[in-house]
Amino acid sequence: MSWIEEKAKSELERIREAQQKQVYPYFRPFESGGLHTSIDGKPLVNFSSNDYLGLTTHPKVIEAAHKALDRFACGLSSSRVQATTTAHVELEQRLAKYFGFEACLVFTTGYQAMVGTIMAFADKDTTLVLDNLSHACILDGTFLAAGTPMRQPEVRFFNHNSARSLNRVLGNRERKNAMVLIEGIYSLDGDEAPIREIVEVCEQHENTVLVVDDAHGSGTLGKHGRGILEKYELEGRVPIVVSTFSKTFGGIGGILFGTRDVVDHVKHQARSFLFSASLPVPIVAAAATILDMLEDDAEGLVAELHEKAAYMRKGLLDLGLDLGMSTTHIMPVMCRDEAKALFTHIALLENGVLMVPITYPGVKKGEERLRVNVTRGHTREDMDKALSLLETYGRAFGLPGL
Ligand SMILES: Cc1ncc(COP(=O)(O)O)c(C=O)c1O
Repeated sequence: MSWIEEKAKSELERIREAQQKQVYPYFRPFESGGLHTSIDGKPLVNFSSNDYLGLTTHPKVIEAAHKALDRFACGLSSSRVQATTTAHVELEQRLAKYFGFEACLVFTTGYQAMVGTIMAFADKDTTLVLDNLSHACILDGTFLAAGTPMRQPEVRFFNHNSARSLNRVLGNRERKNAMVLIEGIYSLDGDEAPIREIVEVCEQHENTVLVVDDAHGSGTLGKHGRGILEKYELEGRVPIVVSTFSKTFGGIGGILFGTRDVVDHVKHQARSFLFSASLPVPIVAAAATILDMLEDDAEGLVAELHEKAAYMRKGLLDLGLDLGMSTTHIMPVMCRDEAKALFTHIALLENGVLMVPITYPGVKKGEERLRVNVTRGHTREDMDKALSLLETYGRAFGLPGL
């Protein structure tokens, strides 16, 4: 056996065991798009989707993508350097205006947007300062920069959501410039960053720039869905925001907001932008159509999401379930045990409700949970069904609080 076969075999041990026991929960193939879909011919409602405004399958979005498909096909066969369309440029201008920034750059994924932005700025004069629960795109951008000759920034972590810890790290960093990287909402826990305190701390330190990844806040927070900065009246005080089309914007794609110079610098430096194919125009058209809808009635859409989230939160808490640190529409049901998470997930799935378990190493041992995201696309019936199943099977499998 070659070493790659041996390595694969030994590292797959845990996964093979779960597959054999028929409790492996990932990569289950859906048979259609949207929150209401099916697996193996069985209908289900998906509570682990990030389609927060439930607009991914809106007829207008699908129609716009169809039209763009006829004109631009599925792909542009090159990177943005030589495959930019009027649709990309128009959407960037509209997004910048809507979100209140001078400029915007659309990447092919949010992951690439973050990696490229970090790589474009981090060098020997920089300390990258990360929350210790950062998303993989922040970690990977950081480690890539740290491991790249000629870049090699200092890397420091602060305690999750602690402005005090951040202040300490910024105060004793070794490099002249600091780039602080946080998320608006942390997607595994559903808690918001204490953004006012963090902005204040960053403003108290010289040469310190804050970057907010608002993947889960764009389109969900603030009266007009402009995200965590709108919600906490901080627009104009954070120089860089990174986001994505893969949650509320109905498709896939990364977004960078900043000043014209910052965005143009990233545009000419970010290898994840320069050396990967441009976002297909049907996806651009879908995002542009969702932006039309936000421009038209963001207040109504966002309010509806929050009404539904409040209903589900009350239902989950009334049952006694433990929602961990959640304060948003992302409300993990804490199981705090791998077997409980896997078995509850399977029982729910058998009954038409998908809540994907998150287990080690995605979270620490003892923090296993079910991913529960409430979206505007869920109905009262969906939520009542999920609550009733959680009550029955959560009790049967001994979930904390039941
Ligand atoms: C906080 C955060 N940032 C970035 C991303 C990456 O976005 P994308 O799916 O567009 O690559 C995600 C997606 O999971 C995320 O949760």
